[in-house]
Amino acid sequence: MHTIRTIKGMVAWSRSAERDGRSIGFVPTMGALHEGHKSLIKSARAACDAVVVSIFVNPLQFGPMEDLERYPRPLEEDMRLCRREKVDVVFLPAVDELYPSAFETAVSVQRLTRRFEGISRPGHFGGVATVVTKLLNIVHPGKAFFGQKDYQQAAVVSRLVADLNICTEIIVRPTVREPDGLALSSRNTFLTLEERKAATVLYQALAAARDVIRDGERSAKKIRAAMIRTIWEEPLARLDYAAVADAETLEEVRSARGRLVLLLAVWIGNTRLIDNMELLCR
Ligand code: PAJ
Repeated sequence: MHTIRTIKGMVAWSRSAERDGRSIGFVPTMGALHEGHKSLIKSARAACDAVVVSIFVNPLQFGPMEDLERYPRPLEEDMRLCRREKVDVVFLPAVDELYPSAFETAVSVQRLTRRFEGISRPGHFGGVATVVTKLLNIVHPGKAFFGQKDYQQAAVVSRLVADLNICTEIIVRPTVREPDGLALSSRNTFLTLEERKAATVLYQALAAARDVIRDGERSAKKIRAAMIRTIWEEPLARLDYAAVADAETLEEVRSARGRLVLLLAVWIGNTRLIDNMELLCR
């Protein structure tokens, strides 16, 4: 396994793999790798000849009051996981490698970022879109793998790749969960034992909404109410948003028909968690 820290080195490696006719699968991450990341790496390993994982805690996508400083950075463990999963290259750029002092360009996806995470975290998707565009240009993969866990992010990345004619296929893989339903997240490590138990409320709220839909409810207002009620019942949880949206456009719907996504953001103590569930409604 190679560790590459410079853009020049990464570009050279990718171009050489390309010349050899090897397909590249790319998994961009911010490190603190868990089973969710691992499933993306396994998908890349299965679908491509060579696998590149980037580990870069992207300052551009964190707000001034957010957890950039305390974001976990267990590099040794991450490297071990990558080695075990037969990753070919770990791309580990420093902040000033990707953002030298003269840097002043931003990639902005307009409509898709105007709601949900885009409202709660102003500037977040600008940071994500900019870094993902840079990484795709540097690594030049045939396929890049993203998790459904960050549903809106996957939609934003798919949009920018189509709009900017980037020749990478975006593949979205299902959310990996703990046995009690909690979606794996690097931020789960911030939770106290008590908060960890309370955090299952996100999945319970999604499941409650799914169940009322299954029982025939089609009013988005009532479906949303089922999620909100579940969150309210957990004293350690504070709702940020709950929404019933079209799976494609992410527009909120009034009645549940076709491909939908339930979206949820909840504070558990000082930790903000997100989750979602895709549903097909007839
Ligand atoms: P990070 O949070 O490290 O996530 C990297 C990838 O892992 C993302 O595509 C995310 O959706 C996926 N992922 C996280 N938890 C998952 C889970 N439980 N199941 C399946 N996939 C999961 O998302 C980012 O980093 C950054 O925004 C990034 C795209 C790297 C740009 O900086």
